Amino acid sequence: MTPTGTSGGRLAIVPGSFDPLTNGHVDLVLRSARLFDRVTVAVLVNAEKQPLFTAAERVAIIREVFSVHANVEVDSFDGLLVEYARRCGASAIVKGLRAVSDFEHEFPMALMNRHLEPALETVCLMPAEQYAYVSSRLTKEVFRLGGSVHGLVPPVVERWMQAKRATAVHK
Ligand code: PNS
Repeated sequence: MTPTGTSGGRLAIVPGSFDPLTNGHVDLVLRSARLFDRVTVAVLVNAEKQPLFTAAERVAIIREVFSVHANVEVDSFDGLLVEYARRCGASAIVKGLRAVSDFEHEFPMALMNRHLEPALETVCLMPAEQYAYVSSRLTKEVFRLGGSVHGLVPPVVERWMQAKRATAVHK
């Protein structure tokens, strides 16, 4: 869980559980990749007791999705996000704001992270409006109840989810 490809420039971390990566996440990462020299998508390990995908699977999936984007890397982390960001030499954490409820969730986290590491900024970006209702939690719920996730997640993720369903190991 150390960053690879440590070329220079400003690095932003886009952290999350990404279980699974949604089209809203992709939108956020691509916006970040236009604003910063380098972006690391950082998958939180052990966020949920029964995730749909293991952390290793999520890293593999996200790598596949961003394989053509030279300034996007994928990694995993556990423990404090600010410690991970410090180890990577990141300038910023990027979070997505879909609605006021996201702001209420993110605001105390941003201030806590600033308390822990004053040099690290939290940057909030609004995703494209067509993804305002898309979350990993709802996507997973639709999937687990047998619904289609087409259009909610990238085709790569859809294929991985179908493979999960085929092996019937999802809860
Ligand atoms: O996709 P999620 O689950 O909303 O992502 C939440 C995440 C990973 C950003 C948040 O849980 C986090 O930063 N976890 C790391 C632990 C940490 O640093 N906690 C203190 C933050 S105030």
